[in-house]
Amino acid sequence: MPPRRTPSRRGSLADVPKNLLDQIKELERQFTVPGEKLKEITDHWVSELEKGLEKDDGPIPQNPSWVMAFPDGNETGTYLALDMGGTNLRVCEVTLVEEKGEFDIIQSKYRMPEELKTTDDQEELWNYIADCVQQFIAYHHAGETMEPLPMGFTFSYPATQNAIDHGVLQRWTKGFDIAGVEGTDVVIPFEAALKKRNLPVELTCIVNDTVGTMIATAYTDPTVRIGHIFGTGCNAAYIDNIGHIPKLKHMGLADDVPMAVNCEYGSFDNAHKVLPITPYDRIVDKESPRPGQQAMEKMTAGLYLGEIFRLVLCDLSAPNADLGLFKDQDLKHLQKQYSLDSSFLSMIEEDPFENLSETHELFKKQLSIDTTKPELELIRRLAELVGTRAARISHCGVAALCKMKGWTECHVGADGSVFTRYPHFKQRGAQALREIFGWTGRKDPIEVIPSEDGSGVGAALIAALTQKRTEEGIWAGINDRERFRKKPAVKIGEDGSIQS
Ligand code: BGC
Repeated sequence: MPPRRTPSRRGSLADVPKNLLDQIKELERQFTVPGEKLKEITDHWVSELEKGLEKDDGPIPQNPSWVMAFPDGNETGTYLALDMGGTNLRVCEVTLVEEKGEFDIIQSKYRMPEELKTTDDQEELWNYIADCVQQFIAYHHAGETMEPLPMGFTFSYPATQNAIDHGVLQRWTKGFDIAGVEGTDVVIPFEAALKKRNLPVELTCIVNDTVGTMIATAYTDPTVRIGHIFGTGCNAAYIDNIGHIPKLKHMGLADDVPMAVNCEYGSFDNAHKVLPITPYDRIVDKESPRPGQQAMEKMTAGLYLGEIFRLVLCDLSAPNADLGLFKDQDLKHLQKQYSLDSSFLSMIEEDPFENLSETHELFKKQLSIDTTKPELELIRRLAELVGTRAARISHCGVAALCKMKGWTECHVGADGSVFTRYPHFKQRGAQALREIFGWTGRKDPIEVIPSEDGSGVGAALIAALTQKRTEEGIWAGINDRERFRKKPAVKIGEDGSIQS
């Protein structure tokens, strides 16, 4: 039996030579974000959030999502949800059943080919996604006559939404860089690809994963006010009201009408006014496809944590650093950009052994580096510093939203690989909130809790809420009424072919 894992080891720096110890102290200086700094970051975050609500080109986009209600748990019906993630594409069929807050789900995952993320021909992307939807229908509905299903498309990139069935990509994030899409409505080419295949689906809403996460959590938890993704990217959505969003004043809607806002606050502090940027963050930014953008995301999101860690180790092991780190080792694997992802850091932080033997193995296996005990101590401390900084900075966003809205008690529904899988992330985030708000009680009044599947159930619920709105004759925030008109059923052949 393996030994029981303890949440953290004691660790001893006793046998670490002075030059490495000094280096560890220097890293601590660069990567530690003290409580006072968290408060300063939070206050600046509040002001950027407010500015984003005033005008369209604010420092944080604050995109109205046209999700204008929370579910009450009584939604019913069958919907498709499509989630275009960084690694996978997921198609889900979600049935919201009669029992309050319950659902059934069937889903299929398709790998997102790496080359699609940077293709010059956006048609390839939309055709690939439509083909996946077609395969899903062929597999799950062969031989049936199908009523077209309303579909929620979880598109987790910053998009300007003049309506819920419309989304102009502001810019690609998370390493995507497909030519010709920025500045255009993604619904048009995607819908054309669906129509070409005569698929029995009707795209009725574009959903950001943060909004989906908030709505999915709200299905069973009425205290939720914010949805957060701490994953490959980092972002939140929250529920506001029209009266607090000056840039929507011209719509003539009543002030108390609710509106879910996709903050897109990965771009917080692109001007570098308060974030404690290190030279390593600057390199990550400079070498990314979109330098100067997503400053906060590049310090906190899963896509970048391994890279920040790797850049520090490359720097410290360079001959001119004169530290003797990884002396006489072949560093070619370490020197490869993005060769380490955040799960590498998770594994280091999870190593329960005093002698860090699992970390030693990991470096040997993945990087062909044979580490010494003092080097392992530096590696472990560095992973803790990078992971802790990410948790603390990203939770300033939660604090800022609550401060701006005057919420003193609420739940934040959260999802994403960093939130669910990175060790100690939740506790570190909760600690940051305690320091920002000065809570000393036993129970934190604002809690970040794991959410239901936001991009599946959340997108289906949003499709349901949108449909309900149209049935009540409320067409605000809907571009094309035709999408909501009942369409004839489609026959799916035994071989999965679509017959009109
Ligand atoms: C995107 C957001 C998304 C977040 C989490 C960011 O890069 O801009 O739209 O919510 O990643 O997936």
